[in-house]
Amino acid sequence: MAKKKVVVTGGAGFIGGNFVQYMVNKYPDYDIYNLDLLTYAGDLTKHKEIETNDNYHFIKADIADREAIMNHFEKEKFDYVIHFAAESHVDRSITDPEIFIKTNVLGTQVLLDAAKQIGVTKFLHVSTDEVYGELDFDPSQFFTEETPLQPNSPYSASKASSDLLVRAYHETYGLPINITRCSNNYGPYHFPEKLIPLTISRVLNNESVPVYGDGKNIRDWLHVYDHCSAIDLVLHNGVDGEVYNVGGHNERTNLEVVKTIISTLGKSEDLIEFVEDRLGHDKRYAIDPTKLEELGWKPAYNFETGIAQTIEWYLENKDWWKHILSGEYQEYFEKQYSFKK
Ligand code: NAD
Ligand code: DAU
Repeated sequence: MAKKKVVVTGGAGFIGGNFVQYMVNKYPDYDIYNLDLLTYAGDLTKHKEIETNDNYHFIKADIADREAIMNHFEKEKFDYVIHFAAESHVDRSITDPEIFIKTNVLGTQVLLDAAKQIGVTKFLHVSTDEVYGELDFDPSQFFTEETPLQPNSPYSASKASSDLLVRAYHETYGLPINITRCSNNYGPYHFPEKLIPLTISRVLNNESVPVYGDGKNIRDWLHVYDHCSAIDLVLHNGVDGEVYNVGGHNERTNLEVVKTIISTLGKSEDLIEFVEDRLGHDKRYAIDPTKLEELGWKPAYNFETGIAQTIEWYLENKDWWKHILSGEYQEYFEKQYSFKK
């Protein structure tokens, strides 16, 4: 039997990168194609241990480049598309929304056309809980798959738009699809512009940690390995056309997250620096994962075990994040935070 061909877009990024490693190791009988443009968030050094495996392949391409994507899809005739590639940082979408529309909306549409053209077995679109907007602080409220889409940032609006296009290609052309909407991820290879790796790297360097507003906003944290197992399950067992929320009931305020990291690393809370709030800052996200649990998913980590593993990983992999911090990121950091002081 011919090997299944799986294309993972954004496989040089944080979650896509972890997913590529998970698939290459778990499914030696699948050919895994990592298709990535290698933007500031893409980095191939993370794949040192798998890059010589026979079942790992890399394609450098822009998902918004119609001709290139059509050519790759026609040539390889992929069976599965797992679509992670995106501009993913909310703060960057507030200062520069345009690239979010190009990559997240137009790029998704190009991929949908290519998938339709070759007749893939499944197009799995990796989306986010942010498309639902925000919840207030009432702990009995959760996002379900029925919650209306009410995105608040240019990033989440671009993701919601792409979700609607994926849905439309299913309804109109019968493209086999699933959409997953996950809560905040953390774990190995998380780019240090996001709260958890930013805090770990700055605390280790004895630098201040910028906390937006009063630090009381709530996020629902899921270890990236649990997100990978969820996507694997939906890829193989998800009911055609369905949306699945992914989350593990690990709600924490931002201040709790930052304090946990500081105390685990044995540093002082004096490192916390309250800075101007994010524009349109969503108050709270919280996922009801019942539908995915009914499909058979169970996370392996809770926040305590996951954050301990993650901090340990950042301690053991300083070369990786120090290399990332030395690039374009320096300029971004100065622009992003200088006006907030
Ligand atoms: P990331 O920013 O770490 O990685 C994005 C990857 O996409 C990078 O490798 C980048 O080079 C690539 N890319 C960007 N533009 C591209 C283009 N035009 N063509 C090809 N490749 C391109 O992102 P992440 O945090 O790993 O998120 C991955 C996906 O998961 C995104 O779709 C995001 O919306 C979704 N998601 C993220 C989280 C989270 O907490 N990080 C939670 C839920 C869902
Ligand atoms: O919910 C899923 C989403 O989670 C994904 O779709 C996004 O791609 C991902 O980036 C993430 O978005 P957030 O905006 O929630 O993540 P971020 O790490 O940027 O911020 C987490 C919280 O911490 C948020 O309330 C803002 C706050 N924050 C963030 C930064 C970068 C700070 O207080 N200080 C900071 O410096």
